[in-house]
Amino acid sequence: MSTDSSTHNLHHSFNRWLLRRWRFLATAIVVCLGVIFYSVMALSQQPVHIAMLMTALDVAQEQHIIEAFEAQNPDIKVDVIEGPNATNLVEDLYTSSFLLGSSPYDAVIMDVVWLPKFAAAGWLVDLTDRIPESELKDFIPETVEGSRYQGRLYRMPYRTDSGLLYYREDLLQAAGAQPPETFEDLINISKQIQQSQGADWGYVWQGRQYEGLAAMFVEVLEGAGGFWVNPQTLEVGLDRPETQKAIQFLRTTLDQGISPPGVTTYQEEEARRLFQSGQAVFMRNWPYALPLANADDSVIKGKVGFKPMVHAPGQSSAGALGGWGIGIAKSSPHPEEALRFAQYYASEEAQRNLVLKNGYLPTRRSLYTDPQVVEKYPYFPRMQAVAESAALRPPIAQYAQASDILQRYLSAALTGRTDPEQAMRDAAKETRNLLQRYSAR
Ligand code: GLC
Repeated sequence: MSTDSSTHNLHHSFNRWLLRRWRFLATAIVVCLGVIFYSVMALSQQPVHIAMLMTALDVAQEQHIIEAFEAQNPDIKVDVIEGPNATNLVEDLYTSSFLLGSSPYDAVIMDVVWLPKFAAAGWLVDLTDRIPESELKDFIPETVEGSRYQGRLYRMPYRTDSGLLYYREDLLQAAGAQPPETFEDLINISKQIQQSQGADWGYVWQGRQYEGLAAMFVEVLEGAGGFWVNPQTLEVGLDRPETQKAIQFLRTTLDQGISPPGVTTYQEEEARRLFQSGQAVFMRNWPYALPLANADDSVIKGKVGFKPMVHAPGQSSAGALGGWGIGIAKSSPHPEEALRFAQYYASEEAQRNLVLKNGYLPTRRSLYTDPQVVEKYPYFPRMQAVAESAALRPPIAQYAQASDILQRYLSAALTGRTDPEQAMRDAAKETRNLLQRYSAR
């Protein structure tokens, strides 16, 4: 073999080796690109996650709405974080997350009383131009008003609330009593039924130091002819005689053993459980309590009536306007998805399901006479009047602080830690200072 031909052969096999390597390399590159392409595709089809914080009680009650939304919107996954049951504590958690920046929440489920503060702080997306007026036509005007701040819309209201007085129809009937109109009626009927051993307790209400105390107190205060803060003039009414009349009513229920001493630690659920166990004649609570009291496992099923709150002679009843809606955090990277979620939650379909399952008051008028709803809850048309005549807690941006002041001094007055007149003078003074500080800015 000549040197020439062996060089040629060597060259040839080197080329073949190179070609094999090249083919291998090309195949590897194609495979890699394919893997990258499919991963990107798969990733882009991963649902977008939106996060929201809500009370543990509402998670339990409203999970079915969130699941229905996810089933209809497979491109969105809602991560629900459970918070405490007191609305003001959930508000604190949202507030600190917004103040710290990079809040993890996309949707903000809001109590009506938080809205002015959250909107004034600039934490919410202005939805005015995203939600046509026609979409709001069916809504109870108060619920839309409670979703606006300075004329701009910041949340989709999906559930409204108004405080009610519940009573045991059977016990009142046995005692030959009519449902009470005045504070005094309630006290007298309670005593009579307690004395005849019809029930251990006369009246259960929300006496704990939290937002529910402020909501309950607004009703008694208005029923006594008084007021807390006038949102237009920022006048404060806590040191007026009507406020003392309202506190006097609540103190009487405690001093005369009409309410259990523990009532000053009760939230809604503690009051409901005691009433539902059959041990009390009257209860102040929101409409959610009625379907539970009438559930099959309730010992007072079919024995419960409801009416507007009692009041002083010559005054009229007031139920505090409560209620919830969903807004969108300005810091959210997924505002479109959060908006779809908020719109679904407030839709007729979602609200109907929420009413049917939980008996919550809807924000859409049509549902109060909806055949399915009325078939399940024949009392529902009466609830519309209740929902449309509720009394506002002052819609001011400093509401959380004003409410905190009232809660502290009122709780001290109710538990006998402070003289009620002194407590309300101090509460009025602190509230005036608070409001002046802000109006001076
Ligand atoms: C209910 C009302 C809400 C109120 C709260 C007080 O959730 O809807 O507006 O602030 O009770 O506990």
